[in-house]
Amino acid sequence: MKKIIIRGKKELKGEISVSGAKNSALALVPASILAKDKVTIENVPNISDIDSLSEILDNLGAKVRRGNSTLEIDTSKVKKLVISEDISKKLRASYYFMGALLGRYREVEMYFPGGCSIGSRPIDLHLKGFEALGAKIKEDGNKYTISAKKLKGNEIYLDFPSVGATINIMFAAVMAEGETVIENAAKEPEISNVATFLNNMGAKITGAGTAEIRITGVKELKGCNTEVIPDRIEAGTYVVLSAMVGKNVKVKDLIPRHLDSLLIKLFELGYDVDDEVDSITVKKSKVERPVIVRTQVYPGFPTDLQQPITPLLMMIKGTSELEETIYENRFQHVPYLIDMGGKIRVKGQTIKITGPTKFKGTTVRATDLRAGACLVLAALFADGTTVIEDAQHILRGYENIVEKLQNIGADIKIEEV
Ligand code: UD1
Repeated sequence: MKKIIIRGKKELKGEISVSGAKNSALALVPASILAKDKVTIENVPNISDIDSLSEILDNLGAKVRRGNSTLEIDTSKVKKLVISEDISKKLRASYYFMGALLGRYREVEMYFPGGCSIGSRPIDLHLKGFEALGAKIKEDGNKYTISAKKLKGNEIYLDFPSVGATINIMFAAVMAEGETVIENAAKEPEISNVATFLNNMGAKITGAGTAEIRITGVKELKGCNTEVIPDRIEAGTYVVLSAMVGKNVKVKDLIPRHLDSLLIKLFELGYDVDDEVDSITVKKSKVERPVIVRTQVYPGFPTDLQQPITPLLMMIKGTSELEETIYENRFQHVPYLIDMGGKIRVKGQTIKITGPTKFKGTTVRATDLRAGACLVLAALFADGTTVIEDAQHILRGYENIVEKLQNIGADIKIEEV
């Protein structure tokens, strides 16, 4: 267990560099299973979820070599197709081993995945996709045994454009016989990053990044190199911070186009957004207005930025509204924001935030990853000291967050408890 301690109201200025995307890296690492020899992945963020995936690969018999921000993975000696309950439950992305092991070895045994508790988060769409390709699924409590004599391409319509299901079905389909079409596929940039990696290995995937992905099965895939795209959620979190500071905080090494839905909200709020090729600086303007934000799948406003944008809305005079449409339990940070001085009302899946807020430091808890990031932002502007308990959740998704914030002048430290 860890806690983050922040003494707020320090002058923040300088540059923050964005790391590789958590949600891409978490799919690219299991994708290595599909190649018959060594793959190299660059710009891998140093976050604890990557440690968990490396542990899974190691248990399966793969060789993982970790450099500064590079992972070399050799899966040619994989000898186990079973993932224990403990490690399946450590993170959500363990589910990518279902598709990857099924795709390569036609067999996998693992347990229901873990991850932030922000809703029920079923995996029915993943399983339906595997079945459509010819896999048999045996469910025993929370244990899944998935196997196939042969995988055969099919047309698969996703009832919801799920990121995880889209990627997992791609994994199972790349070496299936014939053509697979995923309709109503997720369009997040991470999907294209994964498809490019698979195509570099020799897969035949078109349409990634659109709602219709076509995959023509190939006999085998070979090792190659790839690079993780910048993390648009980490970037978005720091862009919100840049807005809260209102000047002199530049967020760099990002792809501004991936943040369009956030930037549009910043314009609506009345901020000036200075976006260059790979950086964004946000400046306060004289007129600020409250806004309505509704989370949607990409290219809509990301659910993963719903919590981090809340402290900014708390600063704005008037009542803003935030509606969460993807997860049913993603307001666990709200009581803590209220303890920090916020005027926030929860009504069903919507919160109404009335600002401006005078943030005050207190003891709060990071109930999940993005809730933690939200509390860090609020604490940076609070009078006095804020202690964020269960800060280990934050380290699952933000590389070197403490050092990055210290570098721009924050008084922040992390301690083991
Ligand atoms: C991924 C991201 C997560 C992000 C989310 C939405 C990873 C490791 N995690 O999660 O950070 O918040 O996308 O952008 O990449 N659903 C079903 N059945 C399924 C799968 C999903 O009903 O089989 C529902 C979920 O309950 C949820 C919605 O679809 O309401 C979104 O889920 P999905 O896109 O799959 O998110 P994850 O892949 O879990």
